[in-house]
Amino acid sequence: MRTQVGIVGAGPAGLMLAHLLRREGIDSVVLERRSRDYIEGRIRAGVIEQWVADLLVETGLGARLQREGLVHRGINISFAGSLHHLDFTDLIGKHITVYGQQEVVKDLVAARLGGGGEILFEVEDVGIDDFAGGAPRIRFRSKVGEAIEIDCDFIAGCDGSHGVCRPSIPRGALTSFEREYPFGWLGILAESPPPCEELIYAYHERGFGLYSMRSPTLSRLYLQCAADEDLNEWPDERVWHELHARLGGSSKLAEGKVLLKGVTPMRSVVVEPMQYGKLFLAGDSAHIVPPTGAKGMNLAIADVRVLARALAEFYRFGRGDLLESYSHTCLRRVWKAQRFSWWMTTLLHQPVDANAFDRRRQLAELDYLAGSRHAQRALAENYTGLPFD
Ligand code: FAD
Ligand code: PHB
Repeated sequence: MRTQVGIVGAGPAGLMLAHLLRREGIDSVVLERRSRDYIEGRIRAGVIEQWVADLLVETGLGARLQREGLVHRGINISFAGSLHHLDFTDLIGKHITVYGQQEVVKDLVAARLGGGGEILFEVEDVGIDDFAGGAPRIRFRSKVGEAIEIDCDFIAGCDGSHGVCRPSIPRGALTSFEREYPFGWLGILAESPPPCEELIYAYHERGFGLYSMRSPTLSRLYLQCAADEDLNEWPDERVWHELHARLGGSSKLAEGKVLLKGVTPMRSVVVEPMQYGKLFLAGDSAHIVPPTGAKGMNLAIADVRVLARALAEFYRFGRGDLLESYSHTCLRRVWKAQRFSWWMTTLLHQPVDANAFDRRRQLAELDYLAGSRHAQRALAENYTGLPFD
């Protein structure tokens, strides 16, 4: 087989890259180790920055998003027993859309398959060769066990944080910057109507809590927990009890059937550079953010927007400079998103060894945020998505 761009991974990064390239007339092949049902059912991110929603609409993927996505003017922050609304539209004229990552994935899969494109699902033993400068190749075993090789001009490593592309780069060529947080999020999806129209980020002495949603009848709720929390110790009654304690003061949380429960540890990771020869890393394969700033999926789409443009310029005009500056261009945005996600995380979570000074300092910062339009604008600008250069 032969293609222009071989894409490993059919998450938001890989699928969006394939979609953008197709619009530029650039051929690609997408390989995914999971099944279509699995990737379309995986519940993950929920908040879409304004420019991402605009990009989906502009590139013909917006019909369901515009029908089913929930446009939010801002978010709520709860602390010391009161709720504060930050109205992004009023502050900076922007908004966010709540629309599940799995819905974005479904829309992208439908567009690719409907448009005659292919996604090779359930591939195994994926490996990449000769991407340092020569003629890159992807090898894998197809769903029916056939050994296949694809010759490509470029490889896009969009295979998430546990993929094969990043570890295939020679040791020493990448530098990894990392921070582990001593806590995680216990998340549930529940059949419970929203107690509040917009998200609530709650600072509470028992630990952080987040109220989000997927539809007018489905809530997505999170609790700060230990990084290695044992789910067996969290029967539904305990989860609801804790949610009422952390979020209940500011809203009337209705209990409902719990459809999903899981624990996510939290870390920050960036690898530099995001390119090695003809291999380009995009999305979670190059960086991970803690979910508090709702940045992961948005950053993945930002990377492939840069990459698709650079590839389009290369194929149209033979320009290589945008490909050469890919990593530098992306990393400027990545580090700002890392900073914001770290800031939201440390502002809202209880440090494991919290002392009275730390709590007072956090409360003072929250009080400042609640009272300062300048501080609110800075949060709004980062949360809704920073402008591109
Ligand atoms: P992925 O979505 O991980 O996709 C990578 C794909 O590659 C996967 O389908 C995987 O199966 C495939 N793959 C892996 N290895 C191979 C291989 N060897 N061969 C072939 N295929 C392979 N982000 C936000 O923006 N907003 C939020 O509100 C938000 N909330 C989150 C909440 C939770 C609980 C979690 C866990 C994450 C959240 N995120 C959020 C982060 C977001 O989900 C990720 O950043 C996003 O999925 C990154 O997309 P990606 O395409 O880079 O990687
Ligand atoms: C979600 O809806 O899943 C969600 C919302 C906001 C976050 C993280 C996750 O910061």
